[in-house]
Amino acid sequence: MLDVLGTLERTHTCGELRETHVGEQVVLMGWVAKKRDFGVFTFIDLRDREGVTQIVVREEDAGEAHAKAKNLRGEFVIAVKGEVVSRDEGTHNSKLATGDIEVKVSEILILNDAKVPPFQLEVAGSENLAAEDTRLKYRYLDLRRPQLQHNIRMRAKAVAKIREYFDNRGFIEIETPILLKSTPEGARDFIVPSRIHTGKFFALPQSPQILKQLTMIAGMDRYYQIARCFRDEDLRADRQPEFTQLDMEMSFANQEMAYREIEGMFGHVFKLIGVDLPAQWPRMTYAEAMRRYGSDKPDLRFEMELVDLSDSLRDTDFAPFADTLGKGGEIKCIVAKGKADYSRKQLDDLQDFVKRYGAGALAWIKIAPGSPPVLGGVAPAEGDGVVITSSLAKVLGEAKISQLAKTAAAESGDLVLIVAGRKSVVAAALGALRVEVAKREELIDRTAYKPLIVTEFPMFEHDEDSDSYTAAHHPFTSPMDEDLELFKTAVNDDSQHTLLGQVRAKAYDAVINGYECAGGSIRIHQKEIQALNFKALGLSPEKARERFGFFLDALEYGTPPHGGFAAGIERTCMILVGTENIRDVMAFPKTASAQDLMMDSPGDVDASQLGELGIKIED
Ligand code: AMO
Repeated sequence: MLDVLGTLERTHTCGELRETHVGEQVVLMGWVAKKRDFGVFTFIDLRDREGVTQIVVREEDAGEAHAKAKNLRGEFVIAVKGEVVSRDEGTHNSKLATGDIEVKVSEILILNDAKVPPFQLEVAGSENLAAEDTRLKYRYLDLRRPQLQHNIRMRAKAVAKIREYFDNRGFIEIETPILLKSTPEGARDFIVPSRIHTGKFFALPQSPQILKQLTMIAGMDRYYQIARCFRDEDLRADRQPEFTQLDMEMSFANQEMAYREIEGMFGHVFKLIGVDLPAQWPRMTYAEAMRRYGSDKPDLRFEMELVDLSDSLRDTDFAPFADTLGKGGEIKCIVAKGKADYSRKQLDDLQDFVKRYGAGALAWIKIAPGSPPVLGGVAPAEGDGVVITSSLAKVLGEAKISQLAKTAAAESGDLVLIVAGRKSVVAAALGALRVEVAKREELIDRTAYKPLIVTEFPMFEHDEDSDSYTAAHHPFTSPMDEDLELFKTAVNDDSQHTLLGQVRAKAYDAVINGYECAGGSIRIHQKEIQALNFKALGLSPEKARERFGFFLDALEYGTPPHGGFAAGIERTCMILVGTENIRDVMAFPKTASAQDLMMDSPGDVDASQLGELGIKIED
């Protein structure tokens, strides 16, 4: 028999009581986290959102409550009435905020019972957690875990801080529709069939990009929104098909003004975890980031920069290297400090790792400490007592290996890891290897927060398969003033089309600890340039009109120069709570294969529903 709550109200949360409350009569409500039955008395750990309080029910004080306590099981929902008492000497629990007291209970109400949960909620350490699929199926139970409670609350606080920041700075929150027309951000659209207009479809927004630009044309001056975005793309540890952005846009803006808002907003949000981000973040061009880190989102919490060995190898007749350089490729390396003791197996593992990024092989040089030189040539660094071994020893010769080690500034005990290939492959492979080695060797300072603004992104990406150019950011991003003529020439002169690859955009990303937390740009506000950009992207004027006619029309009615950015709320929260799994900061996330295991979606719909929509499913 369950009890009724009636008019009973709780007086405190389960995280609230301290020594100062001793002697007070209180009412707590929550879930039974743990029960220990000692015969004449029973201990219960009572849990709610705010914490855990120890409840003690003694037969001598409360016979009926004691009998009820015996029937309690994990996750039962109860209310208890009782007196706050100091814990006995030696039984204080310093791990609990409420560990100095316990509540001596006079009455228990059992408000609801609970089945035995399909997995254990109270576990020490994340490695003991049940399989994620099970937890996602019973997400409402998983969310009871203190870690997830903390994460979800941190997310709410971060969003509140963001709103506070933009409200205070004269930005207006404007909601834009979810049932929309295709908005290009480079992913596939999720589409929604229209019943009223059979055969027609809405597309869910990949971002509110066009709409926020229209708010600028509409004279709103400064806009922001906590916006839901939908992208049908390959999922990764930091990507979900449905995610949330802080989206902002401002009129009469240049890049520096946008950077200031990025710095200001993240600065305000990171105060939540007691971190003071610098008032001005370092800036780095895309080209420099790729050259030094092989990544447009470098993690600056550790060094291990890429070193270019191409010049030292121009004279080589080792065919793979000579070929690479002959075709305009590069040979670069990173130096893993003190890792000359890597085993064959470890090196093979790393080779497999770089192959995933398209590299053909991973060459290495080891500079073992403490023995006399056996290889000739130029000794690295201090030289004496150094033995150099290398996977390239036979093909390059001792002198060249020593020279490479010196160029790489490798020292005794270091391991040099070398990749040759197309520039994009070398960057991707070594950029990822740099992070991988840092993780394996625990070189990352987990208490550090290193922000960076990456600037001057290329305007276009070349698609090798179709030999066409796509927008690196999105088609509304403005070319840099310095590259405007180059852009016009590349678009208007067919023979100069490949120059598109050199045009830089007024596009930027905000990076923290290796995560792309935000991206944005100054937009094209002149219709002629927008039309040229559609042409550059291979859209005929007819096609451009069909897809974006409304926007081209709008650009003709006095569009102010404008720009903005969007920050990933989930990525930001991942850094705030220190997780590498995006699902840890979402209440109801999807799996890596874009399913909701709890609701079992996507699911079937009735034939009648499909009929109304005029849709037939082919076998
Ligand atoms: P962009 O596509 O760079 O820019 O997205 C902005 C930020 O959103 C986050 N993000 C994601 N987070 C989780 N899952 C995803 N699938 C995902 N995709 C992106 C990232 C990213 O930096 N309209 C432009 C913004 C602008 O130009 O103002 C846009 O959406 O943190």
